[in-house]
Amino acid sequence: MCGIVGYIGYEDVKEIILSGLEKLEYRGYDSAGIALVNEDGVNIFKDKGRIKDLRSIVDENVKSYLGIGHTRWATHGVPNRINSHPHQSCSKRFTLVHNGIIENEVDLRNKYLSDVHFESDTDTETIVQLIQKFVDEGEAVELAIRHTMSEIQGSYALAILDKDDPNTIYAAKNKSPLLAGIGEGFNMIGSDAMAMISRTNMFYELEDKEFIKITKDSIDIYTIYGAKIDKKPFKADIDLSDIEKGIYPHYMLKEIEEQPFVIRKIINQYSNENGYPYIEKEIIDDVKDCDKVYIIACGTSYHAGLVGKQLLEKIANKPTEVIIASEFVYNMPLLSKKPLFLFISQSGETADCRSVLVKIKKMGYKSLTITNVKGSTLSRESDYTLLLHAGPEIAVCSTKAYTAQIAVLSILTTLVNNTISIDIFKELSKIANVMESLCDNVDLYRKLAEDYLLGQRSCFYIGRHIDYFVCLEAALKLKEISYIQTEGFAAGELKHGTIALIEDRTPVIAIITQEAINLNTRSNIKEVKARGANTLVITMKKLSTETDQIVIDDVHEMLSPLVAIISAQYIAYYAALQRGCDIDKPRNLAKSVTVE
Ligand code: M6R
Repeated sequence: MCGIVGYIGYEDVKEIILSGLEKLEYRGYDSAGIALVNEDGVNIFKDKGRIKDLRSIVDENVKSYLGIGHTRWATHGVPNRINSHPHQSCSKRFTLVHNGIIENEVDLRNKYLSDVHFESDTDTETIVQLIQKFVDEGEAVELAIRHTMSEIQGSYALAILDKDDPNTIYAAKNKSPLLAGIGEGFNMIGSDAMAMISRTNMFYELEDKEFIKITKDSIDIYTIYGAKIDKKPFKADIDLSDIEKGIYPHYMLKEIEEQPFVIRKIINQYSNENGYPYIEKEIIDDVKDCDKVYIIACGTSYHAGLVGKQLLEKIANKPTEVIIASEFVYNMPLLSKKPLFLFISQSGETADCRSVLVKIKKMGYKSLTITNVKGSTLSRESDYTLLLHAGPEIAVCSTKAYTAQIAVLSILTTLVNNTISIDIFKELSKIANVMESLCDNVDLYRKLAEDYLLGQRSCFYIGRHIDYFVCLEAALKLKEISYIQTEGFAAGELKHGTIALIEDRTPVIAIITQEAINLNTRSNIKEVKARGANTLVITMKKLSTETDQIVIDDVHEMLSPLVAIISAQYIAYYAALQRGCDIDKPRNLAKSVTVE
C-alpha cells in the first residue's frame, strides 16, 4: 500500500510530483523516490524517510517535464535506499513505481529471470526486470508490459518509463487503485484524486487488468489483450480546502473538531424532502429481508461495527454478527440461511474487506458498504453503498469516520425497524451540540493527558456493555499515536487475570454511559484503585459523581459512543503531542491498508 503519481506535460515536474506525493503519504511513508526524465536520461532520487526528506535530496537543477514518484509502506524488504522505488531494469532502460504485492515473484524469478542480477529485496523489481526480458526477446514495449501483466499474480498499480521514449508514461492496474488525471497540455496518473486535484478535477478510473498509455496530449486505455477501451471521464468532487490543515497543527485535531459538522451533514444527506430520515427503499428492504447481518470490518471500522451490532439488535431486532475481515477470509462462521453482508470501511480500499467481498459475492450473497470514499473499490463492488459524507480523513488515526459510521448505522437501523422509537434526527442534532461543547474543553484534556499519561508505559480503558466497545476504540487511539501500550477491557473481566498488571500509578480510564452497568463499573474502579491504579472517569451527567473528571451532557444511551469517544480522542492526541510523536503519521502505519 503505497502511493504513486506521474506527470507528463509542459511544466517542471519536480514540485508537481513532490506535492502530489505529500497528498499520498497517508498510503505509506517508509521511503520515497522520484524519477525525472530529461535529455540526460532518467534521474533517480530516492531514500528511506518521508517526502520532506526526499525534497532535500532532489537536485534543484534537474529540469524535467516527465516524471513518476512513489511513497512506500514497506512489505518486501526493509525501508532503505535500495528498496525504495523507483526501480530500474538491469539495462536501466525501464523505470517503474509500484503499489501492491506480487504474489508469484519467486516463481517468476525462477522461470524467467534466473540469470538476472537483482539489486533490491522487493517484489517490484521482478516486474521491471520481466518487462526488460520480454523486450530483449523481441516484444514491442506495450506488448511486453501486457505480457508481464498476464504473468504477475497479485495487486498492482504501476507507472512505467521507457528511457528510449521520453514522451510516454505507461501504467497498469490490478486490485490497487489508479486514476488518470486529464489536463490541457498535460496528463497525470495517480493512486488517488487528491494527488492531482490541484491540477485537474477530471479523471478516468482504471479497472482491473487495464493498461494505459499517456502522453502530454493523449490518454489511451486498453484491455490486457490490447483492445482499446472507450471510457467516460468523471469529475472529482473534492474541495482543496478539505485536504489542507488550515489553522490546525495536525489533521487529527482538525478532524476531531469537524465531528459536530459531520453529524449535521449526515442528517442533511440522509433527509428526504420533508426532512425525515431517508435511505433507498431497496437497501432497507434487503436489510429487513435478511435473517442476519454480518458486519465485516477492520480496526476502527470494526469497533464502529460492534456498536452497529448493538443498534441493529436492540433497536431493529435484527440478529447481527461482527467479524474482523482478516479472520473471516480463512475462518468463515457457519452462515445463516439468508445473510446480508455489511462492510464498514472509511477508505473503501481495505484489502482484508475486499477479500471477503469477493468471496461472498461468489457465494451469491448481497452486500452493502458504508464508506467515506465514493467510487472506492468496496463501494463499486458492493450491491449498495451508504456514504459517510465526512470529507477526506487524512490523519492515519481515524476519528470523524468512526462517529460518522455510527451515525449512518443509527439511521439505517431506525429505518429498518424502530422498536424503541427513537427520533434519530432529533437525537443526532443533540449529539452534534454535545460534541461541540466537548470540543470546548481542550485545556482539560491536555491537563488530564499530562497528569495521567506522561511518562507511563501502559494504560487501560475499562467499560461494560456498549462502553466496552468504546473502550476498544479509545485504546486503539491512544496506542496508535502515542505508543503507550493500551488495552480496552471489559471491566468485569479484568479480575480474571489482567488485574495482575495493575501497578502503582497505572492509568485506568473508565467509560460509564449506561445506567444499567454504572454501579458495576464503579466497583471495578474501586478494585483497581485499591491496587494502586490512577483512575479517571468519563461519564454522563445523569450518572456522574463529584469526583468524575469528564462529565458529558446526557444523550440517548444507545448513541452514547458518539460522544463518549470525543474526550478519548483528545486525550490520545495530547498524550502523543506531549511525547513528541508524529501524530498524523504514526510509525509503521498507513492510512489505507491495501495489503492482506
Ligand atoms: O479504511 P478502513 O476503515 O477500512 O480502515 C480500517 C483500519 O485500517 C483503520 O480503521 C485503522 O484501524 C485506523 N487507522 C485506526 O485509527
